[in-house]
Amino acid sequence: MTETTPFLAACRREPAAHTPIWIMRQAGRYLPEYRKVREEVDFLTLTKTPELAAEVTLQPVRRFPLDAAILFSDIMTPVEGMGVQLDFAPGPVIANPVRSAAAVEALRVPDPEEDVPFVMETIRILRRELPPRVPLIGFGGAPFTLFCYLVEGRGSKTFSEAKAFLYGEPRAAGALLTKLADLVASYLQAQAAAGAQALMVFDSWAGLLGPSDYRRFALPAIERVTERLQTLGLPIIYFPNQGATLLGSVASLPVDVVGIDWRLPLAEARRILGPDKAVQGNLDPAALFAPPKELLRLAGEVLDEAGPAPGHIFNLGHGIERTTDPDQVARLVDFVHEESQRRYVR
Ligand code: CP3
Repeated sequence: MTETTPFLAACRREPAAHTPIWIMRQAGRYLPEYRKVREEVDFLTLTKTPELAAEVTLQPVRRFPLDAAILFSDIMTPVEGMGVQLDFAPGPVIANPVRSAAAVEALRVPDPEEDVPFVMETIRILRRELPPRVPLIGFGGAPFTLFCYLVEGRGSKTFSEAKAFLYGEPRAAGALLTKLADLVASYLQAQAAAGAQALMVFDSWAGLLGPSDYRRFALPAIERVTERLQTLGLPIIYFPNQGATLLGSVASLPVDVVGIDWRLPLAEARRILGPDKAVQGNLDPAALFAPPKELLRLAGEVLDEAGPAPGHIFNLGHGIERTTDPDQVARLVDFVHEESQRRYVR
């Protein structure tokens, strides 16, 4: 018996009994039991009610033999306390977008323990209720992705307002990115103190930036976050979505695991990132709509690309779609466990 779990071992690039798998957005609307809870409460209320947030976190873990649980919350949760009006429809909507130096100046950096105690309480409940073989991942948004929502005020294909602010007011934009970095670092530190066993930072919109803009705007802020988290001793996962051309910069961050979307084969990601990063990913979420045989062939390709070296956490290349059939998820999880055990006797 190993002392650790397959997920935590893979984060540290240690051999594991099988390739661990969990799924981005594994708690969500593709599960009938989640939709049932959502009939009673809106999304914001759900994230702010620890018993319910813990319950929906556990739903996918009860249904499938997943190797990790992820806290049910949202990347925007800690941002409300800065003084913005947040709603979900269904993505985040900010009634008062931040678009001037004065607006940046007016934002507070709240103390997460006081401002979002319900998140820490959810984590404490989950640590009591999760089986020891299923570690709990805490998470937050990367400064640049939070910046995109705060400035744009809503989701967007191009985030043109957010980019206009970067280029037009680089000093104010830099100040906002720094404030967000401080917020996220203390938010994730608080999650670790409450019992999170790994921390993931979602940079969903990193791929909007070319490499030089990424280095100029997003990288200093994510460096500020990860340098502070490094001292916690927990595995840190960074997911620069659509970030294939950014990985040269990402390789220098003090993180243990890099999440890869499906546009870049994992072997190539490993080559760019070097031997001291684990990788997480990267099956196209659309593969779950393929016939079962084709789904498993595509999943096998991801295992091929990851190769036999330790340090692969199987996941989708982005969040699971709401119309996915849960039976397909069951097939995928079993396949990854059985096939990786068959291939690599560890
Ligand atoms: O199971 C899990 O992965 C944990 C829960 C989780 C949610 N949001 C719940 C949620 C996590 C990790 C997130 C992160 C998040 N939130 C990201 C980063 C990941 C990514 O997808 O790139 C982003 C960009 C957000 C912002 C956000 N929140 C969007 C774009 C949306 C709408 C998405 C959609 O599917 O309609 C939300 C709302 C949200 N967050 C839902 C869930 C389950 C849907 C809420 C509902 O209607 O029930």
